[in-house]
Amino acid sequence: MIKICGTGSALPKKRVTNDDLAQIMDTSDEWISSRTGIRARHLAVEETTTGLSVAAARQALAEAGIQPEELDLIIAATLSADHVLPTLACEVQAAIGAARAVAFDLHAACSGFLFALNTAAVYLRGGVYKNALIIGAETLSKMLDWTDRGTCVLFGDGAGAAVLRELPDETAGGFKAFVQYSDGTRGGVLSCGDRPLVNPYATHEAEHRYVEMDGQAVYRFAVGTVPRVITEAVERAGLTLSDIDHFVLHQANSRIIQSVAKRLGQPVDKFPMNLQECGNISAASIPILLDSLNKNGMIRKNEHIVLAGFGAGLTWGAAVIQW
Ligand code: COA
Repeated sequence: MIKICGTGSALPKKRVTNDDLAQIMDTSDEWISSRTGIRARHLAVEETTTGLSVAAARQALAEAGIQPEELDLIIAATLSADHVLPTLACEVQAAIGAARAVAFDLHAACSGFLFALNTAAVYLRGGVYKNALIIGAETLSKMLDWTDRGTCVLFGDGAGAAVLRELPDETAGGFKAFVQYSDGTRGGVLSCGDRPLVNPYATHEAEHRYVEMDGQAVYRFAVGTVPRVITEAVERAGLTLSDIDHFVLHQANSRIIQSVAKRLGQPVDKFPMNLQECGNISAASIPILLDSLNKNGMIRKNEHIVLAGFGAGLTWGAAVIQW
């Protein structure tokens, strides 16, 4: 059985409310909260993507009751690592002393944690590895155009982690099914970060350095695809939607989540949210929410949980686990 045995999370100390943003740009709490549900976010001032990841990882390992040296695999999902090289996963490996683990990053934007978890589950199911650490971590604030009020108000910084283990216990539970999709033809609706080309034969400046988004197109993409992919994953797990106790969705926007709940015919109180306090933390949003549900005793043993992510690429997917 493949099971999440520990979770962790870390947010930067600096909490920035919508009213704080209204002091530095032409926006308001009313505009942001009525369109997105977001009221505050945490922004890195002294923290780094690696430091937040290490803090989250240590909590997850402690809850799982395993030592770093027992880890076989570390996958870090991020689009905002501190460095291009070495990878975030390798930096975490070094910091926690997980000498035996193979470590690499996986970049699938806001679907990153989900895709990393699914990837680890396949390794574990295939008997290749037994103990995996999955991290979703971002300091997106460095990738935002702070003069573009239409995007910068939406995002936040933070990290979440989970330990996934292959356990001999064959009783019900664990990782049941997943479904993943990508559509690169629609990638232009949410993009970021041209890199300059500078070599002895060419010099092209980077024109497009920050997150750019067609908000309404992204909104339509999310409400169209997420209910379908959740339904597919639940069917693949041999369950029905009413068997699911918690739908842990990527925390982009409360209106997207409410619309998904309505389209699935499920009560919105099965869809926990932390975006009010965190904003959209891309790959970190699902593991941070999962950790807060776990720590607050909101998930009981044997309950069924759907994790669903969507974002740039475009990418989207869902997984079904039994706690
Ligand atoms: N404060 C005040 N006004 C703002 C603003 C802000 N932070 N950002 C934009 N506006 C203004 C715009 O300039 C525009 O003004 P205009 O009508 O005078 O031109 C107006 O508000 C409406 O902008 P629009 O972009 O049409 O708003 P919207 O209703 O589509 O809402 C989003 C914008 C971004 C909240 C919404 O499209 C959304 O949530 N999309 C999904 C985005 C997302 O989740 N992305 C991440 C996915 S992983």
